[in-house]
Amino acid sequence: MYQLTYYSKANQNISQKDISDILNISTKSNQSQGLTGCLVFIENTFIQILEGDKFKIETLYKTLLADKRHTDLVLISKGYSSKRFFPEWGMAYCPISDKTSEAFKHFQRNLNLLLDLSQPTTNVENQFWIIVKLKLSQNRIPSQPGTE
Ligand SMILES: Cc1cc2nc3c(=O)[nH]c(=O)nc-3n(C[C@H](O)[C@H](O)[C@H](O)COP(=O)(O)O)c2cc1C
Repeated sequence: MYQLTYYSKANQNISQKDISDILNISTKSNQSQGLTGCLVFIENTFIQILEGDKFKIETLYKTLLADKRHTDLVLISKGYSSKRFFPEWGMAYCPISDKTSEAFKHFQRNLNLLLDLSQPTTNVENQFWIIVKLKLSQNRIPSQPGTE
């Protein structure tokens, strides 16, 4: 079992339809390839963890690098794991940029709950959650290319 996590900047013109297209293709294609993981979208940043066969994940990552719906991909961590962290594909989606809103607080509570329950063990899992937490608590990830 192989895991990979990265974050990226969503294209400025990304639409609701783009998001649902990504979700649809990912759900279908990942399932047929035995890939699982989680895609988080917070304030124009994608954070994704993928797990499954190493070759399949690296092939998908090359496809992701060429996908015009996002840019500035930063590969945070990759490596082997003895078991899946996400037994099913999932995506947490937050369209809200106002962090004081009730909807955002609700989203934040849910993710933090998931975080407390999930107990990451591998470096890839830890790095994924660190970035998600950072994004939940502040607007920018330090040293993200193109944002300085
Ligand atoms: C942030 C982001 C995450 C994505 N995650 C996946 C994924 O997990 N699985 C997948 O098959 N495609 C995913 N895609 C879509 C792929 O980039 C690509 O469009 C899709 O796999 C179809 O590739 P193809 O046209 O080469 O068949 C994602 C795209 C974006 C922008």
